Formats: sequence, structure tokens, C-alpha cells
Amino acid sequence: MKILIINGPNLNFLGKREPKIYGDETLELINNKIKEFGMYHGMEVEFFQSNHEGYIIDKIQESYENVDYLIINPGALTHYGIGIRDAILSTNLKTIEVHLSNVYSREEFRHKSVISDICIGKITGFGSEGYKMALQYLSNLKK
Ligand code: DQA
Repeated sequence: MKILIINGPNLNFLGKREPKIYGDETLELINNKIKEFGMYHGMEVEFFQSNHEGYIIDKIQESYENVDYLIINPGALTHYGIGIRDAILSTNLKTIEVHLSNVYSREEFRHKSVISDICIGKITGFGSEGYKMALQYLSNLKK
């Protein structure tokens, strides 16, 4: 099973960015842990991060015939990135939405997601564990 994990704007700043909300692990460290977890479960995991919506859309379009599932934390684009929604719809990629923080315990504008209704499900508030929870779910599908 091949999984693409996309992180959106400002997630390259994890470790430095608001550690009380997002924790002190860097994205590199998180990705290394996820990669190991994926390998253990026999999954191939590819990572992509961009601060630009267009690059994220390009990546989704390029990958759609090459990956089985998409796990995405679109960062702030979650709340208004209609282009990402359209890319997921266009490619029909089966997608899980992940957020490090619990978006529902934060500002109201974070409660709205433009992709939740077209995703398999959404994991929010479990920090970097959320990516692993998504992978665990996908790995269970194989059994
Ligand atoms: C986030 C939540 C978003 O509201 C925010 O803009 C982010 C990170 C999260 O992982 O908790 O950049 O997606």
C-alpha cells in the first residue's frame, strides 16, 4: 500500500512554531517516525510539504494514479483552500484529514473545513500521533 502524506503552509516550521499548540517536534522528526511506523506495517510512505496551494494541487494531480491513499494536513488552507478540495474531488483520491491541534477547541474560523465532507474521516487534536492513527486505520484495511 502506498500512502502520500501532505502537509500544508507553516508546517515546515514545526518545532519553532507555537510549541504549546503544535509541540516541539520538527516535521523531519515526525516524518522519520511515521516512515518507520509505515515500514513496520508494510506500507510505503511518501512525504510532501509546501507553503503554496498550487504546489499542493500539482502534487495531488501528479500522484493520483501512483498512490492508494492521501493523508493531508492542509494547515490554514483547511479553512478556505477550495483548490485543494477540487483537486481531491478531481482525482478521486481516498483521503484522511489530520490536524495536530484540536481545531474545535480553538478559534471559530478553524472549526470550518472545506475538505472534511469529502474525506474518509478526520483526526484532530492528537498531535503527531494523528498521522500514525491514520496509517494504523489504513493498515487495518489490508487485514
Ligand atoms: C492545523 C490547524 C490549522 O487551523 C492551522 O492553520 C495549521 C495547523 C493543525 O495541524 O492543527 O496550520 O492544521
